[in-house]
Amino acid sequence: MKGVVLAGGTGSRLFPLTKITNKHLLPIYDKPMVYYPIQTLVDAGIRDIMIVTGGRNAGDFLRLLGNGKEFGLAHLNYAYQEGEGGIAEALALAEHFADGDQICIILGDNLIEGSIRHAVEDFAAQQRGARILLKQVPDAERFGVAELRGDRIVGIEEKPQKPKSNCAVTGIYLYDATVFEKIRTLVPSARGELEITDVNNAYIREGTMTFSYLEGWWTDAGTFESLLRASNLVARSRTTEDRPSPTSEAGIP
Ligand code: DAU
Repeated sequence: MKGVVLAGGTGSRLFPLTKITNKHLLPIYDKPMVYYPIQTLVDAGIRDIMIVTGGRNAGDFLRLLGNGKEFGLAHLNYAYQEGEGGIAEALALAEHFADGDQICIILGDNLIEGSIRHAVEDFAAQQRGARILLKQVPDAERFGVAELRGDRIVGIEEKPQKPKSNCAVTGIYLYDATVFEKIRTLVPSARGELEITDVNNAYIREGTMTFSYLEGWWTDAGTFESLLRASNLVARSRTTEDRPSPTSEAGIP
């Protein structure tokens, strides 16, 4: 399975921190933000990875990450998103890279404590359709929110005022190759973006969407509050480790 980290967008909610750099290059405790989603993919056994980014600082990703040696990778792939037309628009740029394979997508501002290895293995066995990772949260209205009926997911609403559950759709998505056909049918939302929630609802309508619950903490880092929370969660994980913090490798516990 191939992996894609989506690290485009303007990061406007973090202005002026993002005035002269890309959100995903900002520090989370002792590493740049983008290190964490890359490490999540690597820890799940995914070694063929593409970074999609954009804006004026795209070249900095190349200087920072190079060929992925720090993550034990032989090479990294890059794509450039013109503008900030949404998560699904950024994902569309990975079609050539995916080349018909299953893909695991992770948003560049999503950090997790645990591993997604089981979900990745389950999806590989699933062969077709999609799989998302859900997490129960106290502030579901900030996210895509899953409506569940028994053990079935029947719909997702993007940032609803009155969430139908407390299950947030995390920014980790597993898709088969039909995702690119689905993206081609999308129209921009009220916020002018091609929404990943519309992609997920297409799979739900088709009856091929499954889900797993994410173990351990999960946070995004796209607001001042969540940026601080992400650093604190990583710092706490480090200090509860028995061994000293790694300095020569990019890793989260
Ligand atoms: O964090 C999980 C949430 O992420 C989901 O629950 C939502 O359903 C999903 O829409 C998304 O919500 P946000 O509004 O928080 O997404 P945001 O616009 O902050 O973008 C998240 C990441 O996606 C960002 O760090 C980089 C990537 N992105 C985003 C846009 C708009 C791109 O690569 N290109 C883009 O044009």
